[in-house]
Amino acid sequence: MNFSGGHILSISQFERADIETVFRVADMMQPYAHRQRVTHVLDGAILGNMFFEPSTRTRVSFGCAFNLLGGHVRETTGFEQSAIAKGESLFDTARVLSGYSDVIAMRHPEPGSVSEFAAASRVPVINGGDGSNEHPTQALLDLYTIQKEMTGRGRGLDQLRIAMIGDLKYGRTVHSLCKLLMLFRGLSVSLISPRELAMPPDIVEELRSVGHQVRESDQLEESITAVDIAYSTRIQEERFGSQEEADMYRGRFRLNQSIYTSYCEPNTVIMHPLPRDSREHARELDDDLNDNPNLAIFRQTDNGVLVRMALFALVLDVADRVDESARDVNWYTGSRF
Ligand code: NCD
Repeated sequence: MNFSGGHILSISQFERADIETVFRVADMMQPYAHRQRVTHVLDGAILGNMFFEPSTRTRVSFGCAFNLLGGHVRETTGFEQSAIAKGESLFDTARVLSGYSDVIAMRHPEPGSVSEFAAASRVPVINGGDGSNEHPTQALLDLYTIQKEMTGRGRGLDQLRIAMIGDLKYGRTVHSLCKLLMLFRGLSVSLISPRELAMPPDIVEELRSVGHQVRESDQLEESITAVDIAYSTRIQEERFGSQEEADMYRGRFRLNQSIYTSYCEPNTVIMHPLPRDSREHARELDDDLNDNPNLAIFRQTDNGVLVRMALFALVLDVADRVDESARDVNWYTGSRF
């Protein structure tokens, strides 16, 4: 894949070598993301960060990643703050905003909308989530995290055993993650959801067609006894017709310390794209896991900055020049990483 000047819309664009490229550049970003060094390689460049659905970490980490490379960020959030509320088309919005930005990151509730926008954009567009369809940068940061966690346990990605739990029908992060896992061989994938919220059949079929062992279940406990990764997800309430409908599924699968201790192998890595729903009636990933060293959720969010920095550097073709303008930081940074 040619990153330079290209869009990042779907995980299907990536081959294994491309993943290795992204992860190699992400590793190089560590001193900058970890506030040891400062670079100005994107000095003067502008990111148009357009988020038409709620977002905390994806929106802010795209912005921080761009800032950490020395670039500037212009943000649009919510339809009501944009001329889309006056009936402007995605085509016109894309033509206009691509005149103001060097790269655009976009989230939108309609599946396919970010690709439609990209087709009219004059600059590269990165998909920050298009409805229930895809969330490619999340899948990349998830796999980057999985690789680090497994390496720390003396293992690689081969023969990985992963469980995905929750709303697998509407969860775009698990759709993209499954597509990414199709690039690897010999995996065991356990899909745990209410029957009505099962993984789309075409994705299950594709996982099987590349030789992965796939098991679908609506029972949490028996399905997490022999996995390396337990990846929990939130019921995607915004995709349901009503809150009452979402309520039927919330709280159905609760991973907490007691279930973990009783059923998981020691050292099973716990992941979640976040936000987790911490309200009493949901709690798919309980706060009582917060002190569990295998809880990788905040390592995922930290890794998101590295991966998004890597994508910007590759798309804007500066990956080899990041160190050129670099210096040490001159403020107190503490030891948070
Ligand atoms: C996810 C999303 O927006 O798809 N969040 C994120 O970007 N980390 C998951 C979710 O909202 O449940």
